[in-house]
Amino acid sequence: MMHRTIALAVLAYFQVTAVNAQAAAAGRPSKYECPKDHGLKYTTPPPNVVTFELKCGQGTTAKRIDNTPKNSQKECAQHCADHPQCQSADYNWSSKNCARFSEYIPTIAMAGVNTWFPTEERNKQEPPPPPQPAREGGNCPRAPLSIVEHMADAASFATDGVTCPGDDGKVFISASGNYMKNRCQHEFDSPAPLAVTPMSTLTECYNFCSDTPGCKSASWEAGNPSWLCRLYTEGEENMRKCSMNIHGAAHMIEPPTIEAADDEVVLCSTECPHAHGQTFDTPSGERFRMSCCKRHGVKTFAQEHMPSLKACMTACGTVPACQSVDWHQSTGMCYFGKHSGEPNINVSGWSAAYSIGCAGACKKEGGCCGGAKGHDEL
Ligand SMILES: *[C@@H]1O[C@H](CO)[C@@H](O)[C@H](O)[C@H]1NC(C)=O
Ligand SMILES: *[C@@H]1O[C@H](CO)[C@@H](O)[C@H](O)[C@H]1NC(C)=O
Repeated sequence: MMHRTIALAVLAYFQVTAVNAQAAAAGRPSKYECPKDHGLKYTTPPPNVVTFELKCGQGTTAKRIDNTPKNSQKECAQHCADHPQCQSADYNWSSKNCARFSEYIPTIAMAGVNTWFPTEERNKQEPPPPPQPAREGGNCPRAPLSIVEHMADAASFATDGVTCPGDDGKVFISASGNYMKNRCQHEFDSPAPLAVTPMSTLTECYNFCSDTPGCKSASWEAGNPSWLCRLYTEGEENMRKCSMNIHGAAHMIEPPTIEAADDEVVLCSTECPHAHGQTFDTPSGERFRMSCCKRHGVKTFAQEHMPSLKACMTACGTVPACQSVDWHQSTGMCYFGKHSGEPNINVSGWSAAYSIGCAGACKKEGGCCGGAKGHDEL
């Protein structure tokens, strides 16, 4: 009984609505005239559906978006509906100018123009721009997912993209292997961004920073009020808290380090597992075994810009304390370490090498490399 009553009420509602819609359609003038049609409502067709009220002899002092010649009052309504930020449009019948405005403020009496005023303030959020694929790191096939397995605090990494407010404080690893600390509800206090471009996700924005030379930090507004991704040359010091918890900002950080036990290194070995991978002999006589898409991630004692992994290893070969290198292709940074063993972290955009001793050492009896290296006695 109860259900039938509700069903009838719902049916009655739809019938009334349909009748109203028909009446409105039937009563709509093909050409709007003033002052006769003052107060009439007009709803623009999809996809940009906006209901406007015609206000004859009125205009607004709101912030103007643009001026466009239009043939009719009606076309001016459509023109406003087509702009996501248009909050009203004034049509001047003598100049045929359709002026669009971006603020929703009441109209005032104004001779010579008639306004289309939406019955409610339009949602200011623009649709997001189309997604952009991230550049992949080096020659590595995909974004790094396995690094977290090596980290005691795996939960502090965002490996599969980053969002706000959920991932506040997490470290984002970009597609090309940069590490960025994400802070939600933050923005940058900087007068001159390095670049500004619309992006559809926070992850895209951070990847864009990672792929842009000179970028140290980035911010994104999640469509409120814009979709702009802003890149900066400043770091953490210029970040500040803001009121929107969906806003995200991140700055580059040094790649985090781990504790790794040294492998036992066998000189001139042809047996597995030591024979796998390519080797490189530096001019100073040091032999390195190289791995792609990996890094040791151990504490580094020095870092320097290097044009290639080869240059990075050559430099390492001249430094007595140096046992391993991690080279990051997109920044060109070479990290010198003392890890005697295979790199453990799988991460795209990086390559690594570690010293396996001296080239030709097995042919000689005793020391090599001038006896300068600490691991000669192995
Ligand atoms: C409407 O257009 C006419 C002709 O260009 C111009 O003189 C007049 O100032 C305009 N009115 C308003 C309110 O902008
Ligand atoms: C890292 O990659 C290698 C292949 O290059 C694979 O054998 C290994 O299981 C990976 N490690 C992790 C932790 O995913």
